[in-house]
Amino acid sequence: MTSYLLKGVSVLGGSPTDLLIKDGVIASGGGKADETIDATGLVALPGLVDLHTHLREPGREDAETVETGSRAAALGGYTAVFAMANTSPVADTAGVVEQVWRLGREAGLVDVQPIGAVTVGLAGKQMAELGAMATSAANVRIFSDDGHCVADPRLMRRALEYVKAFDGIIAQHAEEPRLTEGAQMHEGEVSTRLGLTGWPAVAEEAIIARDVLLAEHVGSRLHVCHVSTAGSVEVLRQAKARGVRVTAEVTPHHLLLTDELAASYDPVYKVNPPLRTGKDVEALRQALIEGVIDIVATDHAPHAVEDKECEWAYARPGMVGLETALPVVLSVLGEQWELIAERMSRAPARIAGLTGHGTDLSPGSPANLTLVDPAARRVVDPAELASRSRNTPYAGTTLPGRIVATFLRGEPTVLDGKAVK
Ligand code: DOR
Ligand code: ZN
Repeated sequence: MTSYLLKGVSVLGGSPTDLLIKDGVIASGGGKADETIDATGLVALPGLVDLHTHLREPGREDAETVETGSRAAALGGYTAVFAMANTSPVADTAGVVEQVWRLGREAGLVDVQPIGAVTVGLAGKQMAELGAMATSAANVRIFSDDGHCVADPRLMRRALEYVKAFDGIIAQHAEEPRLTEGAQMHEGEVSTRLGLTGWPAVAEEAIIARDVLLAEHVGSRLHVCHVSTAGSVEVLRQAKARGVRVTAEVTPHHLLLTDELAASYDPVYKVNPPLRTGKDVEALRQALIEGVIDIVATDHAPHAVEDKECEWAYARPGMVGLETALPVVLSVLGEQWELIAERMSRAPARIAGLTGHGTDLSPGSPANLTLVDPAARRVVDPAELASRSRNTPYAGTTLPGRIVATFLRGEPTVLDGKAVK
């Protein structure tokens, strides 16, 4: 196994030092290595962990595969991603989650951890075989019907109770479906002006409020996907203050973009939950800094051209995000490396109970890390993305930071900004 010496690297923004990567771990002291990388001006972070990725395999390999999504993740600085269950067939059995897990191992670019569906076929009617998925080779601990809300409160309660046995989590896509029928964008001034049916903030807030009460009642763990409104932040703040076992994520796009973009009628800005107002964006940023929102998760949602380059009403919701997440977060938070490491690596690994990721870059730790050049600027070119899909809202935008290298257990997956395989 090739050893690497990162010369003059700044660990989390600290003063320059040498980091030796040997036999899959961070070795102590400097010393000799097979390869030396001049890391002057580069910042080392623990490998990023994404709790919310859509890899589309099985079923929509034209939009993404486990392999292409894994490559996009590695290029974005990730060493582990959690694959959402809304594939075709749905990841609601031990068989499908094992298939995704195995494909991830074969690709070997990031650790792919399947998320299991809460209900059979994501239909919201009958609980899936959570226990069988938990005891499968994929070792599933997070369950979600993401894309759909587990709207039935009795089913949600049962699922929360069920996963307690193995310290699992239910990750909720909070959307009261009766309040979002026909919705096309955020309900507010802009939707009124454009004449598009609105997705009101309260549809998200009402479900989060209900679910924190359910989680409190049964003493179980709830994770809230892609929080998008200021009101949701207040519900979470109160729940956390009471000691409810709830964690929450925000996407890079909800930290940066607003509903004004829908005025272009360009479906690249159509996403679920929708882009909200500037006030919401401000509240989300503040919540992320304070820790009311625990993590950044991409909700990387690749879509084929025909599903995105069509009329707004017919377009699928979602945007790709793995390759731009860290640059977007850098543009929002600035070079707050400690905070970034916490919200994008340590906390997601901790929430998921994922060992070997999100650890300190100290001697003996697994060498899962990423090297970032914070001084670099990049104009996002959709044609250059490793993802099989092109639906990025940042085309032509200049973003700060370039991911120079990523290491997975001491093996480079990205070098000189390019995927190794
Ligand atoms: O925008 C979204 N896209 N939101 C979701 O909840 C699902 C996702 C997808 O699968 O495309
Ligand atoms: Zn979702």
